[in-house]
Amino acid sequence: MSTTKSVELATPAAETFTLTENSTGRTFELPVIKGTTGPNVIDVRKLYAETGCFTYDPGFTSTGSCASGITYIDGDAGILLYRGYPIEELAEQSDYMEVCYLLLYGDLPSVEEKEKFRRDITYHTMVNEQITYFFRGFRRDSHPMAVMCGVVGALSAFYHDSTDITDPHHRMVASHRLIAKMPTIAAMTYKYSLGQPFMYPRNDLKYSENLLHMMYATPCESYDVNPVLARALRRILILHADHEQNASTSTVRLAGSSGANPFACIAAGIASLWGPAHGGANEAVLNMLEEIGSKHHIPEYIKRAKDKDDPFRLMGFGHRVYKNYDPRAKVMQKTCHEVLDELGMKDEALLELAMELERIALEDEYFVEKKLYPNVDFYSGIIFRAMGIPTSMFTVLFAVARTVGWVAQWNEMVEDPLQKIGRPRQLYTGETQRRYTPIDQRG
Ligand code: SDX
Repeated sequence: MSTTKSVELATPAAETFTLTENSTGRTFELPVIKGTTGPNVIDVRKLYAETGCFTYDPGFTSTGSCASGITYIDGDAGILLYRGYPIEELAEQSDYMEVCYLLLYGDLPSVEEKEKFRRDITYHTMVNEQITYFFRGFRRDSHPMAVMCGVVGALSAFYHDSTDITDPHHRMVASHRLIAKMPTIAAMTYKYSLGQPFMYPRNDLKYSENLLHMMYATPCESYDVNPVLARALRRILILHADHEQNASTSTVRLAGSSGANPFACIAAGIASLWGPAHGGANEAVLNMLEEIGSKHHIPEYIKRAKDKDDPFRLMGFGHRVYKNYDPRAKVMQKTCHEVLDELGMKDEALLELAMELERIALEDEYFVEKKLYPNVDFYSGIIFRAMGIPTSMFTVLFAVARTVGWVAQWNEMVEDPLQKIGRPRQLYTGETQRRYTPIDQRG
């Protein structure tokens, strides 16, 4: 079975775009390609050959980098679909293993397929015992994301039997290994920071429960995972599993386009996710709330967020694609209040401050006019805080969730008959050619 549905480009649409070069009157016909839904694309693959010009789109705000059948986002309508299924329905009715199967293979599993997949993942959750020695090289106070980057990249030194990207079986085994081992490595980074012994995964626990058990259990006594926290974590993992061609997924695809092994590509994705404008935002939200400190200071920070000369931005607000409410944020908001209520933390000062910031930002004209709604990171940071997870671990858990999306997109890229090494061009703005001047002749 191929790990992903092969991506068939929808038949090219009848229409084309005609480009006219005013200085010469030359015209160029650019075909338009239709997808199954969402914006069409103008096929510019021949543009440079025919016009001698590149397109120019820093940040890729208007650029489709690939054809994909995995995740669909309509930012204006606030729609997010995983293989066609609305995120709200998956968050409420599915579980993370089933969502992993869906993202990887394209359809919801049968009972037998789901049980086999769950077992395959479960029996890959241990890491090679040698990997425990990698941690010894890090300081105990290293940022967990730095450790994750290093250790996940090192996996390629252990699993040579699943690094041949041309072999579908290798790709499937590497995909399963990454999905299975990320929680174990995440929990190890946490335990290492505490100076506590690593806890092995348990095959009798479900994915979310296993992760929480490895993080919070000790060899000294039995530990029962709180079902409220396990349910909240399961929902967070589902909501963060994939998100179209975001920065870290595009990093994984670009790294993979050179033929790099999947472990190295996922390590590259982890590095990109770490940025505060991306997956690091949930950690940045909590750091921002601690800096604001009290509800009385909110107006000052809202003022700073609007000030073009002030680099301060309201962490957890805004999104490149969603110019309506992020549908994940709605589910996260509901989960956030459930967790706060069920843990009796409604009046926890920092969380109360967060709710007041949300209320004010949703009413403030600047944020309303620029459609800067709370995003998924705003609420995940608050839930993780309520769950007692240290701030520095927030993006690590985001990386655990997103690994299946990265892996599914990587497989799709490798299997895409149209894929080639990613190699963007540029608008050159530097010096034109000039002669070298020996140092004794320089001014
Ligand atoms: C994630 O891509 C994905 O899918 C990412 C993600 C995923 O699941 O993979 O959804 C996860 O990364 C969510 C985003 C988490 N990041 C943050 O919460 C950091 C704070 N947000 C901003 O950095 C910003 O909103 C971005 C980076 C998320 C989006 O930036 P864009 O699309 O480049 O938008 P922009 O910077 O062009 O902003 C448009 C305007 C600007 O003002 P003008 O220049 O038009 O006057 O809105 C302003 C910005 O100054 N603005 C903000 C703001 N975000 C945008 N002003 C204050 N606070 C903010 N948070």
